[in-house]
Amino acid sequence: MNALTRRLRALLLAACGASALLAALPARAAADLAATPPMGWNSWNHFAEKIDDATVRAQADAMVSSGMRDAGYVYVNIDDTWEGERDAAGVIHPNAKFPDMKALADYVHAKGLKLGLYSSPGPKTCAGYAGSGGHEEQDARTYAEWGIDYLKYDLCSLGEQLDKVSPPEARSIMRAAYMKMHSALRKTGRPIVFSLCQYGYDSVWHWGAGVGGNAWRTTGDITDSYDRMAEIGFGQAGLSPYAGPGHWNDPDMLEVGNGGMKPEEYRTHMSLWALLSAPLLAGNDLTRMSPETIAMLTHRDIIAIDQDKAGHQGDRVSSEGQLEIWAKRMADGSQVVALFNRSDIYNEIRVDFRKLGYRRPVKAHDVWANKDMGPLPLDYRAIVMGHDVILLRIR
Ligand code: GLA
Repeated sequence: MNALTRRLRALLLAACGASALLAALPARAAADLAATPPMGWNSWNHFAEKIDDATVRAQADAMVSSGMRDAGYVYVNIDDTWEGERDAAGVIHPNAKFPDMKALADYVHAKGLKLGLYSSPGPKTCAGYAGSGGHEEQDARTYAEWGIDYLKYDLCSLGEQLDKVSPPEARSIMRAAYMKMHSALRKTGRPIVFSLCQYGYDSVWHWGAGVGGNAWRTTGDITDSYDRMAEIGFGQAGLSPYAGPGHWNDPDMLEVGNGGMKPEEYRTHMSLWALLSAPLLAGNDLTRMSPETIAMLTHRDIIAIDQDKAGHQGDRVSSEGQLEIWAKRMADGSQVVALFNRSDIYNEIRVDFRKLGYRRPVKAHDVWANKDMGPLPLDYRAIVMGHDVILLRIR
């Protein structure tokens, strides 16, 4: 927050109280909180319910020792199944797997990292644990007291209630539920990234930022398979207008390193997520990574594409059967162009650089091959292997 915003905040607070402040400054604050897509790790894809305090500490340790922290990964996010019982006053406590959430947050913070949690707007989370419905302000205060920096808020059981009402009613209940938690988080005064998870219902990209979302899931859950990853990733075509600093489309967490895809398929996964300006939340076991997995997750050029400060999400430029060309405009005026081959066998992909705004042969850096390419003709052809990608940064 700059000096002017701080001054405005103080004036508004003095004049009209916190609610006017919430209404007046959401966009600015959101941009401060998630100026570039959040980066970190989340427990769900690999550990699901087998997550506990010791495992989270080990992941935080590994995030540092692997070089991931230095590459930009910050959030250590505990997904579903940490929740315990509410006490007589309604205060939520973690279950036995997490004996002391504040101590865990302190541990994570001491490493220069941040801690994230998960909850739901209904009575229950997706895994059947206690949700925040009816306890929003109380829970937000508890999270702030523990030192939580990120909240994934997953529709789950509230979704079942929405099935019983008319679509317009369902829409307003859902939006109000997200807005309520956003206001509760803001009221704590602690900067907490707010990540909406409702699988893209009701075209959330149209209204996610309006209810305070720093990111919103655009789809159902990813799995560690090329088909599902590709279905989700390539399915993001057309969503680029809705993302920008402070508010991002979220095609779900990464599967890199979980073992279900081939190297070229994980390359496609990373390339797409970076082009999509997607949150980069690793979903593997960081304590058991091959050098190849570490290299892929910490690839400097890929992270620079994802984290570009202009925040122009990339999009599909053209497709011909299973061959697709995507591009992303970068802050420095360069452009990232990806040649994706979604088929099983190698194919020639043709790029007409004129359609991407070029008039002369282009100089490119091949990101995955890490080599500079001499001037490429305006009518460029390249062989791309099955399920693989050629990713070019054009200067
Ligand atoms: C939903 C979400 C997942 C995960 C689980 C936890 O399925 O989409 O990302 O959070 O709930 O129960």
